[in-house]
Amino acid sequence: MGILTLLFHNTRKPEGLLGRWMVSSMNHAHAAIADWGMCHLPKTDPVEIAELGCGGGRNVRQLLRRYPAARITALDYSAISVEKTKRVNRRDIQNGRCHVVQGDVARMPFEDERFDLATAFETVYFWPGPGESFREVYRILKPGGVFLIVNESDGANPHDNKWLSVIDGLRIFNKEQLSALLTEAGFSQVTVDHDLKAHRLCLLAVRSKPCFGATGSLPKALCSAGAGSEPGQRGNSLGDLERSGF
Ligand SMILES: C[S@@+](CC[C@H](N)C(=O)[O-])C[C@H]1O[C@@H](n2cnc3c(N)ncnc32)[C@H](O)[C@@H]1O
Repeated sequence: MGILTLLFHNTRKPEGLLGRWMVSSMNHAHAAIADWGMCHLPKTDPVEIAELGCGGGRNVRQLLRRYPAARITALDYSAISVEKTKRVNRRDIQNGRCHVVQGDVARMPFEDERFDLATAFETVYFWPGPGESFREVYRILKPGGVFLIVNESDGANPHDNKWLSVIDGLRIFNKEQLSALLTEAGFSQVTVDHDLKAHRLCLLAVRSKPCFGATGSLPKALCSAGAGSEPGQRGNSLGDLERSGF
């Protein structure tokens, strides 16, 4: 196996010396796509945020700056990623705003309905399922909580096919596949920004608030289509903000 192939394997799960180099370089190489994705975050003030597949921890730092009242729990299954994220965010770890955990997104060590926001930058390509992992994200989000996915590959760029043979375990999803998987996992109000020119995708999905019947405060008829769905049920329509370029 050539050095380049060995290097790119470390995007899936950084390990060893090459993994250390990879997490540092991803902090720079993914900055622009991550910042583009963060522009789509709703104007709310999440208190508990989960940054999933956190890599080198640069996006944890950006989210801590963006939401000064929030606490962030970062998760990655690579020991190298966890170590680097801790180093990059050491001050916020000391002041109690940041916590970094080694673990798999498919079985997260977090209680149900803990987080207001979950983010996934450049990582769902590798997640188990990923439908089963999306159900796990649904589980840890509060009702009304938001899940942000940001991918630099939209599944429509023939040039990306070369990565499939170079990076072990890589799967590139298009917007229809991701939207369907999110809806099947129980999410509603799935919106997509598909930047056709740069071939990048940003998806936002909401864990809907429960609808109440006759005994509750909100009549079922007022619940939006797809709201209140449980994992496994198909929900609402896809709000597609497709753009032709920037
Ligand atoms: C391509 S890197 C992206 C890192 C970072 N989010 C960024 O944008 O630079 C993918 C990261 O996801 C992590 N990852 C992949 N599959 C995972 C899983 N099943 N559970 C937890 N982390 C995972 C990898 O260890 C790696 O750090």
